[in-house]
Amino acid sequence: MPRPTRVMPSLLSADFANLQRDIERIPSADALHVDVMDNHFVPNLTLGLPVVEAIRAVTPTMLDLHLMIEDPDRWAPAYAEAGAESVTFHAEAAAAPVRLSRELRARGARAGLALRPATPVEPYADLLDEVDMLLLMTVEPGFGGQKFLDLCLPKIRRARALIGAHGGDIWLQVDGGVSLETVERCVEAGADALVAGSAVFGADDPDAMVARLRALGDAAQDDESGDDPAR
Ligand code: DX5
Ligand code: ZN
Repeated sequence: MPRPTRVMPSLLSADFANLQRDIERIPSADALHVDVMDNHFVPNLTLGLPVVEAIRAVTPTMLDLHLMIEDPDRWAPAYAEAGAESVTFHAEAAAAPVRLSRELRARGARAGLALRPATPVEPYADLLDEVDMLLLMTVEPGFGGQKFLDLCLPKIRRARALIGAHGGDIWLQVDGGVSLETVERCVEAGADALVAGSAVFGADDPDAMVARLRALGDAAQDDESGDDPAR
């Protein structure tokens, strides 16, 4: 069964003084990816709950929160309460990821588990029942506009195999350096949710770029399905 490719533009590359205007430039986005950074988990500081609440007030589009913060056990549930449909925290930062995922789901959000490039996915195989999405970073988190790390591709494949063996409807998201040049590699490896910041907002027509990335992703998955008689 083909999986739909979801394209989620990262507002990190939008104009922070004109967030509503830039959100309205990407009406066909499947979700808005919002990067929360605390200057501790990553060496950058972006935005927090008040700005997420302000974004929520101006758009019905799904909000996909990516929390690059320490102590998500304490801070993440409030983002679900603010109305974000998906809240992703980092495995490296969470003290009790199972409890936190359950708290997010209890507040009506999808729960996402994020891994830095050097964090292996296998130790989290037994947690798949507890999450709705795995986010595999394809750059070191902290900044937009970095180069895609091809060394992450084998991990994307292994994560797709674990999700396939689990059998649940778990999205596999990649974040960092996703562009026209790298999208096919990501989808062929098994990603079905693509975060793209600089590629979308650096384009003359951001919404057309969303459509192009989605079309390339869907086509790459068709190719992949054709190669594998088991699918
Ligand atoms: C980086 C963020 C990403 C970032 C991606 O730590 O998590 O979401 O915005 O930006 P690009 O697509 O430019 O690599
Ligand atoms: Zn992100």
